[in-house]
Amino acid sequence: MLRNIAGLLFIVLAFCACGNRNIKKNDDTKRADSLRADSKDVHTLSNADSVEMKHLDLDISVDPEKKQISGCAVWTIKNKTKVKTLNLDTYDLTIDKVLVDGNEVRFLLDSPIKFLGSALHIPVKDNSASVMICYKTGKNARALQWLDPQQTLDKKHPFLYTQSESIYARSWIPCADGPGIRFTYSAKVTVPKGLLALMSAENPQEINESGVYNFIMDQPVPAYLMALAVGDIAFRPVDERTGIYAERGMIEKASWELADIGRMVNTAEQLYGPYRWGRYDVLVLPPGFPIGGMENPRLTFSTPTIIAGDRSLVSLIAHELAHSWSGNLVTNATWDDFWLNEGFTNYFERRITEQMMGKSYADMLWELGYQDFVTEVNAQAPRDTWLKLSLKGRDPDDGLTDIPYEKGSHFLKLIENTVGRDTFDHFLARYFNEHAFKTITTGAFLTYLDTVLIKGNADLKKKLTINDWVYGPGIPANCPRADMERFSKVDSERTKFLSGVPAEKLASVEWTTHEWLHFLRKMPPAITLIQMKKLDDAFNLTNSGNSEIADQWFIMAVHANYSRAYGAMEQFLSSVGRRKFLEPLYTEMMKTPGGSAMAHRLYDKYRKNYHPLAQESLDKIVLKKK
Ligand code: BES
Ligand code: ZN
Repeated sequence: MLRNIAGLLFIVLAFCACGNRNIKKNDDTKRADSLRADSKDVHTLSNADSVEMKHLDLDISVDPEKKQISGCAVWTIKNKTKVKTLNLDTYDLTIDKVLVDGNEVRFLLDSPIKFLGSALHIPVKDNSASVMICYKTGKNARALQWLDPQQTLDKKHPFLYTQSESIYARSWIPCADGPGIRFTYSAKVTVPKGLLALMSAENPQEINESGVYNFIMDQPVPAYLMALAVGDIAFRPVDERTGIYAERGMIEKASWELADIGRMVNTAEQLYGPYRWGRYDVLVLPPGFPIGGMENPRLTFSTPTIIAGDRSLVSLIAHELAHSWSGNLVTNATWDDFWLNEGFTNYFERRITEQMMGKSYADMLWELGYQDFVTEVNAQAPRDTWLKLSLKGRDPDDGLTDIPYEKGSHFLKLIENTVGRDTFDHFLARYFNEHAFKTITTGAFLTYLDTVLIKGNADLKKKLTINDWVYGPGIPANCPRADMERFSKVDSERTKFLSGVPAEKLASVEWTTHEWLHFLRKMPPAITLIQMKKLDDAFNLTNSGNSEIADQWFIMAVHANYSRAYGAMEQFLSSVGRRKFLEPLYTEMMKTPGGSAMAHRLYDKYRKNYHPLAQESLDKIVLKKK
C-alpha cells in the first residue's frame, strides 16, 4: 500500500515537472505504438487465420513439352474458428476439381485481382480435415521458368525452376500464400525419364529410372519457400552435410568455386547457433535465373554468375545461408516487414564474410552497400525508404529495393556498435532461438529489442533513434560507416589514372572484385572514350569473366558510347537473366535515343530468354509498360 502511494506520488510529480514535454512524448509514443500494431498481410486472399493449414501433400507431374505442372494438392486443415468457407490463393491456375474429406464439392474461383490472382473459395464443415485440389498451371505462371533444351548447357534436356518469393507460389500450388503461414509438406513429383527433381526438402542425389521422386519437409515453412527444379542435374558432395548440384556440364566448375560452403556453415553456426535444417546444399542454376540467390530451405538456388573462377563472389552464398536463421527460421510476418528478412541477412552475411575473409574485406562489402543505400534513397519516394514498408494495393516486388537490405543492415550495425559486439551477438542468438519457426512483425521485434536489450536504458534508446530508422525516411544521421582502409588505396590509384598515369602502372594486382567495383563506380561520369580504351587495353574489362565487374563496365560503356564493349555486352545480355544486372544496364541504354534503339533491338531478341519476373520488370523499363 505504502509503495503504491509512493508510486502515485512519483507519477504526479513527474507529470508536474515535465509539463508540455510529457504531452509531446505521449504523442510520439502513441504514434509509434499505432505504427507498431500494424501487421496485416495484405497480399494473401486466404483466411489461414481462421483455418489452420497444417500439412501439404503434393502429387504433381511436370510436363516440359506442354510447359505445365498438373496434379493434386491435399491440405490437412483444422477449422479453428468454424468458418463456412476456406479461401486460398491461386494465380492463373485451372482448377479441375475439389474434394473435402473425400467428397467432391462445388467451389468458386474469383476473377483475378491485379498482382494477387484469384481467390479460391471452398465450402468446409466445422470438422473438415482434408481438402484436395486438382489443378493445372497456366501460361502466365509467374514462378516458373521453362527452358528449352537449347537454352541449357548440354542442349539436350529441358530444365524447369521455380521462384516463389514473394507471392508466386500461388502460381504453381493452390495455397495460403503469406509469409506468416507455415506448414510442413511432402511431395511426389513425376518428371520425364532421365531428369532429376529437387525441392526445398530432403533431396535425392541421383537420377533414378522411374522419373518419380518423393520429398519430405518436416519443418514448417511458408509458401514462399516452396521450390522445385527439374533437369539433367548432377551432384558433388563438399563435406558430410553440404554439397553442390548443377547442370551436368557445370558441376566441376561450380563445386570448385563453392568448395568453402562446409566451412561457411560452421562459421555461421559459431556466430548464431546450430544450423537446424539438416543438409545445406546449393543448386547452381542456368544463367537465366532472375535473381542472385534464393534461400530455399536445405537447397539454396543460385545464379551461375557467381562462378567467377576465383571464388570472389561467394559472399552471395553466405547471404543465402544466413537466411537459414533470418528468414527461414524467423520469418517476416508480412512483406511490409521485409527488412526483418533481408536487413538481418545482409548483416549476418557480412559477419560470416568478416570471419572467413577478415575485417578489411568485410568493410568493402559494407562500403559498397552504403553506396547502394545512398543511390536507392535518391531514387525512391521518401515513404519507400522507411524500414517498415507500406505495400498495400501494390506488388510486393515494389519493396524489393536496397532499402530493406542496406538500411536494415546498417541499423543493426548501429546497434552492434552501440552495445558492443558480444552483447549484440548474444542478443541475436537468443532472438533466433526464441523465435525459431515463428513469424515476427516489425513492432514485435522492436518490443523484443526493448525488453531484452534496451531494458529501459534511456541513454541507449536515445542513441539508437529507432523511430528515425524504422518509421522515417532517408539515411539517419547516426548511420555507421565502414573503415576505408582498402578503398582509400583504390581512390588514390583512380586519381593517379585520371591525372594521366598509365593504367598498367596502377597498383591493382591484388585487387578483388570489390576493389574493381569501387574503382569503376567512382569514375567521373564524363570519363572519355580514350580513357575507357586505356583501361580496357590494360585490364581487358570488356572480356572480364566476372559478372559484377562486367556489368559495371557495360553500364559505363553505354554511358560513354564505347562501342568496343558492345559485342561482349550483347553476349552477356543474351544469356544472363539476373535482374540486378539487366535492369541498370537497360535503364542506362534507355537514356539516349541511340541507346534506346539498341535496348529495343536487344530486348526484342533476348526477352524470351528471361524469366517471367524479369520480363515484367524489363517491360516497364524498355517497353514503358505500366
Ligand atoms: N530472398 C532474396 C531474393 C528475393 C527477395 C526474391 C524478394 C524475390 C523477392 C535473396 O536472399 C536475395 O536477397 N538475393 C540477392 C542476393 C544477395 C547477395 C543480396 C539477389 O538475388 O541479388
Ligand atoms: Zn536475401
